[in-house]
Amino acid sequence: MRQMNPLRVDTIAEAEGEVLEVGFGTGLNLSYYGPSVKTLVGLDPLDVANVASVQSRIGSAPFPIERRALSADGGLPFDAGRFDTVVTTWTLCSIPEVDRALREMRRVLRHGGRYVFIEHGRAEAEGTARWQDRVNPLWNRLCDGCNINRKIDQLVEEGGFELRSLDRFRARGPGIVAQMYRGVATRSA
Ligand SMILES: C[S@@+](CC[C@H](N)C(=O)[O-])C[C@H]1O[C@@H](n2cnc3c(N)ncnc32)[C@H](O)[C@@H]1O
Repeated sequence: MRQMNPLRVDTIAEAEGEVLEVGFGTGLNLSYYGPSVKTLVGLDPLDVANVASVQSRIGSAPFPIERRALSADGGLPFDAGRFDTVVTTWTLCSIPEVDRALREMRRVLRHGGRYVFIEHGRAEAEGTARWQDRVNPLWNRLCDGCNINRKIDQLVEEGGFELRSLDRFRARGPGIVAQMYRGVATRSA
């Protein structure tokens, strides 16, 4: 994931206030948050409590961080409107019930708050998308449930968000896994 770090810069800079990061992983986004972040809840089913590098990243952050070892599609234990910003980076591909997770992320985001994301997903070019469909079953088994053919923008909108900006571009690497969606969304009415 480290080669993706330059792509985190602009995305994470959009976060402010009370932040929920879904798919916190090993905390690779932490050093990109700006001074307007007050607190962060990092949610991920992965248990990293004993990983020294993660604890060091958490310890160096200039704001309090709470780790919750939970799956985002199981119902989030937070009040409606609790967060100013929800963040995901390279995570929507792996959440089994991604539609449910997005509806929960919308519920806990305050009105006027922002959902910021950078994700990989389905290609616009039909030929590449067909390859993604062919390869996805094997890829999913080999790569911890990752899906390479999800239409991220459609999923976000169906989850009850309105896209304020969306960049589509190709990152480095094989075409089937390099189709990027970077965006900012708000709760739809
Ligand atoms: C490719 S990693 C990305 C990690 C991190 N966001 C980053 O940018 O480095 C995908 C992350 O999604 C997490 N994940 C998978 N299923 C999830 C779920 N149901 N709810 C929340 N996070 C999940 C994984 O544990 C993993 O940490």
